[in-house]
Amino acid sequence: MKFVLLTVVALLLVVGEGAADRLLSKRTKRELASPLHVGGIRDPFGSYCQRRGGCCPGRDDLCTEPYLDTICYCDIFCNRSVADCCPDFWDTCLGIPPPIIRTCQRNGNVFLTGQTYKENCNLCTCGALGRWECEQNACLMEPDIIHAVNRGHFGWRAANYSQFYGMSLDEGIRYRLGTQPPSRTVMNMNEIQMNMDPQSDRLPPYFNSAEKWPGKIHEPLDQGNCAASWAFSTAAVASDRISIQSMGHMTPQLSPQNLISCDTRNQGGCAGGRIDGAWWYLRRRGVVTEDCYPYQPPQQTPAEVGRCMMQSRSVGRGKRQATQRCPNAHNYHNDIYQSTPPYRLSSNEKEIMKEIMENGPVQAIMEAHEDFFVYKSGIYKHTDVSFNKPSQYRKHGTHSVRITGWGEERHTDGTSKKYWIAANSWGKNWGEDGYFRIARGENECEIETFVIAVWGRITMEDMHNHHHHHRRRHI
Ligand SMILES: *[C@@H]1O[C@H](CO)[C@@H](O)[C@H](O)[C@H]1NC(C)=O
Ligand SMILES: *[C@@H]1O[C@H](CO)[C@@H](O)[C@H](O)[C@H]1NC(C)=O
Repeated sequence: MKFVLLTVVALLLVVGEGAADRLLSKRTKRELASPLHVGGIRDPFGSYCQRRGGCCPGRDDLCTEPYLDTICYCDIFCNRSVADCCPDFWDTCLGIPPPIIRTCQRNGNVFLTGQTYKENCNLCTCGALGRWECEQNACLMEPDIIHAVNRGHFGWRAANYSQFYGMSLDEGIRYRLGTQPPSRTVMNMNEIQMNMDPQSDRLPPYFNSAEKWPGKIHEPLDQGNCAASWAFSTAAVASDRISIQSMGHMTPQLSPQNLISCDTRNQGGCAGGRIDGAWWYLRRRGVVTEDCYPYQPPQQTPAEVGRCMMQSRSVGRGKRQATQRCPNAHNYHNDIYQSTPPYRLSSNEKEIMKEIMENGPVQAIMEAHEDFFVYKSGIYKHTDVSFNKPSQYRKHGTHSVRITGWGEERHTDGTSKKYWIAANSWGKNWGEDGYFRIARGENECEIETFVIAVWGRITMEDMHNHHHHHRRRHI
């Protein structure tokens, strides 16, 4: 008797579970069904709930009627945001007029009020009126600006960069530049006197540091979303100058991260900084190589600055020595490199050229405009393609770069265009392998306004030591 009872209970449990399972799978299917009334209720005067003989309380997945090529429901549960009610449900079951159901469409898909998607740098939301409402930010990569540049005859071509796509112009200016305009005091810095002799100072029509000093001019780096061109341009010019001056005995690529994390007095790290402060630091404290203190672009918050992991102490005669090991545990060469005080060149094109040809690349400050970000090749000049757009499409910020040479492009109609060759810090897939050419001799984007050069601090002893260093490593 007991055994029979137990069997019956067990059977009941099995039956109960099976029924629940069936119900669950049906409900899931119903919830996944696409909303029935996309684009409005069709057949609003048709008879469904009424014809079926009434409505059902609560949830009843069997309370349906055929509707178009599917079914509609007459249970109270049908009245959710994803409505699958019959057209006359509201009238017949609730005694109220049917709601107006709004949805938005995109690429054949249906979205409900409040759902979003991102169109380039703008977030679009399906609004209460069933229309997409999009933010109106100017984007860093605007297709019409790219097209307008490429259609026009500006002498340069534009491209769509995936690393910039989805950013607003404001974000580009905030995170991709990062040099503060020099203060009035710094702007008043004296220019060095250069005596140009028109006879002996013949300047060639084309000059490229990378060709005169092979192996000593460093490739452009990528600052990522870190507004630290102040550190990148300074480290790059110092690296080249030390390599040239030591005649290749040392070819350090100096660490921008060392400057970003350690030169923090009145500096903003990845939120922008001053080049005079960077040069002060290179002279007084010095920095290690990129390999010793590698660059770590910020991942989350672009303004974050890593803790300083490298300090130096004086070892007499103005020289310094690192007091810590390299942050890169695989590198044991924590030599500190220093510079002499920087000097300012005049804005005269010829004097800048002479300096580059004799001593190597120089640092220049420039204004980067909205169309500079899309530069791909050619001789850049700021264009007017966004002049007929609202003012939020026309913005600029201060940037710093490394000028490495110059040239002149001759056209068949007899005209010619003079340019500078300059290295940016947006990686090698930007521009012409990370470089760009820009109009020369007309202070395009202020590039000839504030030009800085520097010497490395190198002694014969340094050269000797480094020479041995390298030799030992090769043996
Ligand atoms: C049913 O729809 C009406 C009209 O849109 C609404 O006022 C009501 O709150 C809804 N009821 C439920 C249970 O969602
Ligand atoms: C630009 O690039 C992005 C990302 O790589 C792509 O989604 C977009 O369609 C491109 N736009 C144009 C106009 O080519």
